[in-house]
Amino acid sequence: MDRSLYEKIIGDIRRKGDITPEQLEIILTDEDGENEEILFENARRVAETVFGREIYLRGLIEFSSFCKNDCYYCGIRRSNKNASRYRLREDEILACCDSGARLGFKTFVLQSGEDPSFSDEDICRIARRIKEAHPDCALTLSIGEKSRESYEAYYKAGADRYLLRHETANEGHYARLHPDSLSCKNRRRCLYDLRDIGYQVGCGIMVGSPGQTMDNIYEDIEFMRRLGPHMIGIGPFIPHRDTPFADEAMGSVSITLRLLAILRLLFPDVLLPATTALGTADGRGREKGILAGANVLMPNLSPPDVRSKYLLYDGKICTGEEAAECIRCLEKRIESIGYRISGSRGDHPDRSGNK
Ligand code: SAM
Ligand code: FES
Repeated sequence: MDRSLYEKIIGDIRRKGDITPEQLEIILTDEDGENEEILFENARRVAETVFGREIYLRGLIEFSSFCKNDCYYCGIRRSNKNASRYRLREDEILACCDSGARLGFKTFVLQSGEDPSFSDEDICRIARRIKEAHPDCALTLSIGEKSRESYEAYYKAGADRYLLRHETANEGHYARLHPDSLSCKNRRRCLYDLRDIGYQVGCGIMVGSPGQTMDNIYEDIEFMRRLGPHMIGIGPFIPHRDTPFADEAMGSVSITLRLLAILRLLFPDVLLPATTALGTADGRGREKGILAGANVLMPNLSPPDVRSKYLLYDGKICTGEEAAECIRCLEKRIESIGYRISGSRGDHPDRSGNK
């Protein structure tokens, strides 16, 4: 596409904080590499204005690979009999946080499948113990769909943030990705409850999930505008060999990067991770994500002996290393592109230092 027209579109999106379906399609399908670089440069400039050249770190603790759900895309879905399952004990979770804190982490993300063997009381007790041991750290939960009462209890116990990708805002597409027991409506209800309770909330999608159309992505952006998330997690869909989507194509890295850049233009101060899935799909995916406007990385703090069991998709990176090695590797990677790791909790700019 003609350079000056392309630049005008980018300028328009930036100025209005809005995008039309036509503009979205042009940006996601344009084949000119130099145009793409203009998009990334604009997104970088916006991120730099809000966050400088600092990257926030979140220490991810994948504490259980048991799940009662059966999402078609997910390697730890209930029906995958080949998945080897594990669940960390409370003390092991605490120990992950302790070693993370020694490495300088100021945010812990507790993620798992929907594992009913952890009761609300268990989650609240773990949250309280983490916050007692590390009062200067933020605690993020990512444990799926729960009742409003459960979310309220976790919040009172000390959880500050919650990640729950909406996966897709389109009901038909949602039904293509999930069994009937799960609904788009309940997923959205959860996100609105979380936001109303006071959490810093993250939603998000997989790019290139089976059946996803350009219109779906536009609907996702509209949903995000209504929700007003503090964080948006997007990464390419990557097939897992033991799921119904084993033979589906992987999501495009280039479209993921462009969408990251568009989200940065539309939501200048949103927290935007360069995800592990992006790093798996492309050896330099996380660096490229930051150069397209992302400002968060989520290295793994789970014990190395269980990491390869939390396999959401094939080929997942960083399943062998110790946390300390991962940090050194990431540090080198981001310094090589002119960025540095922030020592702060990395709250959303609206919430600095508070819930
Ligand atoms: N159970 C929690 C939940 O539902 O939010 C957290 C765990 S869930 C595995 C975390 C995210 O992994 C999902 O929201 C999904 O977007 C992503 N994911 C799952 N399978 C994937 C795949 N095959 N490729 C890329 N991302 C995947
Ligand atoms: Fe439950 Fe993936 S199906 S975490």
